[in-house]
Amino acid sequence: MDLVLRQAIQTDVPQIISISAKVWDGEDYIGAVIDEWLADPRGGVIVAVSGRTVVGFGRWVQLWPGYLWLEGLRVDPAWRGAGIARTLTHHLLEVCRLQSADRVALCTYLGNDAIIHLAGSCGFRRAASFTYAEAGPTSLARAQARFSPEVKPLDTGTALDFIGNSAFMRASGGFFPHGWRFLPFTIAPEAVFARMRWILGVLRGSQVIGVLCAGHLLRHRQEFTIDFVDGEPEAVEVLLRHALALAQSARSVEMMLPYAGTQPVVALPLITQLGFEMWQSGEPDVFVYEKTPL
Ligand SMILES: CC(C)(COP(=O)(O)OP(=O)(O)OC[C@H]1O[C@@H](n2cnc3c(N)ncnc32)[C@H](O)[C@@H]1OP(=O)(O)O)[C@@H](O)C(=O)NCCC(=O)NCCS
Repeated sequence: MDLVLRQAIQTDVPQIISISAKVWDGEDYIGAVIDEWLADPRGGVIVAVSGRTVVGFGRWVQLWPGYLWLEGLRVDPAWRGAGIARTLTHHLLEVCRLQSADRVALCTYLGNDAIIHLAGSCGFRRAASFTYAEAGPTSLARAQARFSPEVKPLDTGTALDFIGNSAFMRASGGFFPHGWRFLPFTIAPEAVFARMRWILGVLRGSQVIGVLCAGHLLRHRQEFTIDFVDGEPEAVEVLLRHALALAQSARSVEMMLPYAGTQPVVALPLITQLGFEMWQSGEPDVFVYEKTPL
């Protein structure tokens, strides 16, 4: 196969969108972000081209100096099984090496056997597992929304202490979710806090007994992500209800809850009770893979 890999340009966009439209029954998000991705100086989109036809693409982006993220890998269904995703991944890793990255990471989900196999065979190791939970516009959870006067904004220093010592962070291996991206909290808390819209806590006296962080809305302000929640169960419930109230105008509310061994984090039974939907009844189904050193 005569395949050329190169940086994507604006005139590739219609073909990129046409491939994306064939993925996940047209629910793929690339069409909504591709212009932003092409304009972003922190990263780039690589296309695989046969003749004049774009047959696949993938993106790299620097989330923090030395820490790169791979996402948006797509191959046209008519061209699958021919090694295009592998060729794109090798090329993307080469780009990451040229950026002098120490770590490169990606995430995928249970059942995406091609990516799980590809990541393993390219030297990535599974670094963390999460359970994905969602409350769509008609979800029962949306009716549980309730603002609480107990919930207060926290300064980042107080939040840093709580989050750094939390069971959530121990279970997540130090990865802090923001939608479908995962940041290394221990080395880059500033990068995490810069992406957060809400850093909220519940206090008993001067003691913080629960913290919730929700990021800036993603994908054209439609997706409200609860990226961190932990603490005493009563505080976590108050915080979750409060966040659902803040999310009222968003299309969906999404969460990634870390899962360590057989011990789910404290929020898992609560979000089940509140009516969030999960793909695998709370089993881990989203995996972060990391390659370090390159
Ligand atoms: C996933 C996807 C990118 C793979 O593209 P592709 O070009 O068909 O993949 P490749 O032909 O390069 O195959 C990659 C590897 O996965 C393996 N593979 C493919 N399907 C597999 C499966 N069902 N189970 C296990 N391994 C599989 C291939 O054998 C190959 O490994 P090898 O080189 O050791 O033989 C493509 O199917 C796609 O666009 N899917 C929809 C979007 C998506 O899921 N993106 C990733 C989101 S995390």
